[in-house]
Amino acid sequence: MTRRLHLTAFLKPPGEYLAAWRHPDTRADAGVDFDTVLSFARTAEAAKFDAVFFADLVGVPLESQDVLSRVSVVNDSFEPTTLLAALAAVTSRIGLIATASTTYNEPYHLVRTFASIDHISGGRAGWNVVTSLNDGEALNFGRDAHVGHADRYARAEEFFDVVTGLWDTAGPRSIARPPQGRPVIVQAGASEAGKQFAARVAEVVFSGQRDLARATEFYAEIKDRAASFGRSPDELKVFPALSVITAETRAAAEAKRDTLRALMPPQVALAHLAYLLGGFDLTGHPLDGPLPELPESNQSKSTQLDVYLRARQRGRTIRQLAAEISDDSGTVVGPPEEIADHIERWFGAPAADGFTLVFPYLPGTLDDFVQLVLPILRRRGLFRAGYDGTTLRDHLGLRRPTSRYGPS
Ligand SMILES: Cc1cc2nc3c(=O)[nH]c(=O)nc-3n(C[C@H](O)[C@H](O)[C@H](O)COP(=O)(O)O)c2cc1C
Repeated sequence: MTRRLHLTAFLKPPGEYLAAWRHPDTRADAGVDFDTVLSFARTAEAAKFDAVFFADLVGVPLESQDVLSRVSVVNDSFEPTTLLAALAAVTSRIGLIATASTTYNEPYHLVRTFASIDHISGGRAGWNVVTSLNDGEALNFGRDAHVGHADRYARAEEFFDVVTGLWDTAGPRSIARPPQGRPVIVQAGASEAGKQFAARVAEVVFSGQRDLARATEFYAEIKDRAASFGRSPDELKVFPALSVITAETRAAAEAKRDTLRALMPPQVALAHLAYLLGGFDLTGHPLDGPLPELPESNQSKSTQLDVYLRARQRGRTIRQLAAEISDDSGTVVGPPEEIADHIERWFGAPAADGFTLVFPYLPGTLDDFVQLVLPILRRRGLFRAGYDGTTLRDHLGLRRPTSRYGPS
């Protein structure tokens, strides 16, 4: 069977770039303007994306007022399952994926929420299963600090079994089995515990690799791990995140990137770096000195390690690293043919079954991708011209799981 490329639009209005709200072509309050978010989802649906995806934190990172007053996306966004329900009513084909935490919910909450969205949308729901990231989230749930990494994953494993058990059963669940049997399960674990969890449960794995060699290795590794749980490689799709800025020419694409770069307040860049390093406090360390040795993160261990290694390998000072991290996040900047080549190369390696497309500012970078890159991917026979099915499982080529309690 020919492999088909999949595309998910990771929508973070007004854009992934922390200073996107200052861009003249965005709305600073796009995160809570439903018509604006809907217009992005409609663009993605008209372009035949597999799904739109909305991330979530159940709190605000513990930053100073000075920093929080200079960002919008972390403190002005819809609760994503509520948003999915609203989008389900006014879209018809595109998949609808939202993050929900296994650390700060009870299983029964999510059984009902995602079953409801799957019913309302006619089988288009997907759940990005996360264990949450930071202390700012913990404070909202009566805790002083975030639950430890190992305990979070132990809970996530059990949480998943309870939730899927309830979706499968005729027991105390108060809503009929979801049309897809289960919503599509998405996971983005990158640590040892995270990868094992993803290999056992995920049908889509969001990954963060930027380098083709490492992404190819990760792709093979996660599929091997899935096989060790008795799963076929096709049951688990790997979607690296891909941030894109494109325009007709390289110079025009770089000009767009430079416009965005110039909007970043330095204190936000520094706070963002500290966050990626695991909430490590950088104050007191000279900005023009090297990154100090870091205690192990209780947040994302893989992100901390990536940033740390990058600083060490390139000999960056804290100030240089903050500027660099804030303005690239792996963004591929170039003319449409180059972006299409990148996608084709990663797809063919194979390092990807599809991509989670990240948009530095919206709608500009989404519109550019749809208008300039998608026609090339279609000409090359890589991406669909229309939807074949109606559910998210149809789009992704995933089977509908049978109930473990139903007839075999
Ligand atoms: C594309 C992508 C989207 C993610 N979205 C979220 C999110 O919405 N909420 C969240 O708490 N974590 C999110 N994460 C972080 C992962 O859930 C996970 O914590 C991270 O990849 C680190 O892996 P580890 O938990 O195994 O250390 C995302 C990661 C990726 C790559």
